[in-house]
Amino acid sequence: MTKNINWGIMGCGGIAREFADALKAVEGANLIAAASKSGKAKQFAEDFNLAYYYDDYEEFVRNEEIDVVYVATTHNFHYENTMLCLNNNKHVLCEKAFTLNAKQASRLIEIAKSKKLFLMEAMWTRFSPALAKLISVIKAGVIGEIKTLKGDFCIDVPFDPKHRLYNINLAGGSLLDLGIYPITFACMILERYPVEITGTLNIGKTSVDQESHYLLKFDKGETALLSSACTYSAPIDFVIYGTKGRIVVPNFYFPAKLILMKNGKTEEIISVPYESNGKNYEAIEVMECILQNKTQSDKQTFYDTLKIMEILDSLREAYLTYPNENDF
Ligand SMILES: NC(=O)c1ccc[n+]([C@@H]2O[C@H](COP(=O)([O-])OP(=O)(O)OC[C@H]3O[C@@H](n4cnc5c(N)ncnc54)[C@H](OP(=O)(O)O)[C@@H]3O)[C@@H](O)[C@H]2O)c1
Repeated sequence: MTKNINWGIMGCGGIAREFADALKAVEGANLIAAASKSGKAKQFAEDFNLAYYYDDYEEFVRNEEIDVVYVATTHNFHYENTMLCLNNNKHVLCEKAFTLNAKQASRLIEIAKSKKLFLMEAMWTRFSPALAKLISVIKAGVIGEIKTLKGDFCIDVPFDPKHRLYNINLAGGSLLDLGIYPITFACMILERYPVEITGTLNIGKTSVDQESHYLLKFDKGETALLSSACTYSAPIDFVIYGTKGRIVVPNFYFPAKLILMKNGKTEEIISVPYESNGKNYEAIEVMECILQNKTQSDKQTFYDTLKIMEILDSLREAYLTYPNENDF
């Protein structure tokens, strides 16, 4: 990459700080501005040495020096925040879950296409060097034919009705926040989307899903047995079972190693370290696409985002509706 790209960040919470750190490792990435409606932008700008900070998103998007905005607010705001950026001619990288539902995602994609702006869901796992290695090992037939996938993203977050994981007004619940990872990982590995989708969600006292289990079936008969929860912890492992062995992927949301097992024993540990905190890879993809005047990434396509949103819609259909999710 030769040309510099100016980044702005909308929403100055936890993930915004991680992304800002990652941008330091990306050649040509200039983080110049941040906006926070809750007054966190000044401190953020000081911490990351930014030229501009805003307490108002509308003012922020009018800054003509910003090329691309990283939308780092909670899911409930993604649609309106991304729409504001697109309507002000900014390219956008928007955190997962991309929107509340597939209809919202589809609308944003239409606008990006019509305005010839780049738009991508920040599914950072897609750009993990270990994922590329995993897919190449599977394709080489090392574990034979894939039969079943298993993966959990379960973490123990103390109950707090205001926390984004428990707050329905912030589109809380484990499905959109955590379950999206094993669901997306299964589809990334098989490079296809399921033909059958079933699941069960346990709705807690704040009306969001606290523990959820998913069963996906793919067209060649492979199954994926997945779960997410915010009330208990479990190893964040993903296991791919094949006819000749299995591969365990610890911390699969951004892995650094693959454990190849055959006949019940570890045969090889394949180390695939990543640079910085891993968020740098999605930023590089965004910048390369913008410099090539693309509206979407070939790696994380609009189709991928829509299919995942459709799966999430289908899994929660019988259990959970977010406030105002259809008002747009
Ligand atoms: N890729 C990853 O590894 C990863 C990891 C964690 C989270 N995420 C995703 O990133 C997004 C943000 O997560 P986070 O942990 O950074 O969230 P957070 O720190 O709780 O909040 C992020 C921002 O959202 C706005 N916000 C939060 N709660 C609000 C409320 N009650 N009322 C109004 N605005 C509120 C605030 O924006 P202002 O600063 O403008 O006030 C806040 O700074 C989520 O969509 C999540 O799924 C991704």
